[in-house]
Amino acid sequence: MHALHQTLDDARQRYAAANPKSQEADKLAEQYMPGGNTRNVLYHEPFPLTMASGEGAELVDIDGHRYVDFVGEFSAGLFGHSDPHIKSAIHQALDHGFAIGASTGYERELARLLCERFQSLEQLRFCNSGTEAALMAITTARLVTGRDKILVFNGAYHGGVVKFPTGLSRFNAPYDFVLAEYNDIEGTAEVIRQVGDQLAAVMVEPILGAGGSIPGTRDFLQMLRQTTRDLGALLIFDEVKTARLGPGGVQGMLDITPDLTTLGKIIAGGLPTGAFGGSAELMACFNPKKKSTWKHAGTFNNNVCSMAAGIAAMGKIFTPQRATEFFQWTEAYRQSLNSLFAEKSVPMVCNGLGSMFAIHFSTRPLERMVVRSPDGLALNALLHMELLLQGVLICSRGDLFMSLPMNDSHLDQARDALAGFIDRHHTLIASIAKD
Ligand SMILES: Cc1ncc(COP(=O)(O)O)c(C=O)c1O
Repeated sequence: MHALHQTLDDARQRYAAANPKSQEADKLAEQYMPGGNTRNVLYHEPFPLTMASGEGAELVDIDGHRYVDFVGEFSAGLFGHSDPHIKSAIHQALDHGFAIGASTGYERELARLLCERFQSLEQLRFCNSGTEAALMAITTARLVTGRDKILVFNGAYHGGVVKFPTGLSRFNAPYDFVLAEYNDIEGTAEVIRQVGDQLAAVMVEPILGAGGSIPGTRDFLQMLRQTTRDLGALLIFDEVKTARLGPGGVQGMLDITPDLTTLGKIIAGGLPTGAFGGSAELMACFNPKKKSTWKHAGTFNNNVCSMAAGIAAMGKIFTPQRATEFFQWTEAYRQSLNSLFAEKSVPMVCNGLGSMFAIHFSTRPLERMVVRSPDGLALNALLHMELLLQGVLICSRGDLFMSLPMNDSHLDQARDALAGFIDRHHTLIASIAKD
């Protein structure tokens, strides 16, 4: 659509004119990294911003603009950029040596905090990222069941080599993946029946995150619980992102206990980590005190900075009570944005739950993964550009993550920027948005 593309071009030109230093930084980075980038999700046209610093819930770029940060490090930034408990925990850990190469009390304490929070976890192992946690959970399922097939969902993201935005791909680790449609109860149950006793595990995000922040329905997730149990296969919940929703993630909210859970992002307060775990019986397969168990390795699994930051984050800051309050506050905000869209009679919706949601151009909440049309993508890019120009940073694909240091004025700034976008482009949005 000509008008849309013209409007997007104009916005990109204003953005480029306002950010000469970021443009220059992008050019310099191109020499040593392909496209100047080491993480594709951070790239967007015409070039991404280079940030200079962060404080609380705000970021400042190298051209001096200040942003309310709704990218929130794709969920890992729950604690904002300068939480004093996390900073002091890291400083204290650094003062006592940071490449210890031995067990320390840190991992024991963080493991305790997490096992007390997530109902499926009696024991866990740490690793270095959510991706690694996914790989280890799949490996565990294959080892304990002696089976190979792993059922996953279209649009799912479990890590850099375990992702299904457009189905199966050579890019992924070469496991024997089988695909089904998210939230399709009958279709998925049928695929599970067909795979039968070759099924090692079903791996699922309780909210399809990168696939559009689409909550799994209770019935769908319960069906997965029941059918995997009936077949002797494992159910893996990937709560790498959703661990932030309430005191015990979505498993606690819905009272559904998977066999294995993967975690990452928030559990080390914003530093690198990952974890996977389940019942003590299941995790005993990694017990080095027993004969013939498997050896799970990783130089940085118990990195003291990550572990110390995690203890402060999950023990002192994001306590179960704070998690409950934060969920209520953020869910009220998400719903208030949906009320704004309804008042303005515009086909837009904030899909998701609490502090994790995505803006879609649609007349109703999404239950299934959607593939955006080229015009839909351009409209999304326009929203992203215009919010940036108003000092509101969101993920370029339309996700927003709220953080603990946000206050009402941050929320008002984002709401006003959205209202302005709608007022300027009402006709354009209505002509492109899908039912
Ligand atoms: C649901 C989910 N699982 C796993 C991962 C992978 O985590 P990491 O980036 O730490 O490897 C992500 C990352 O975005 C995620 O969103």
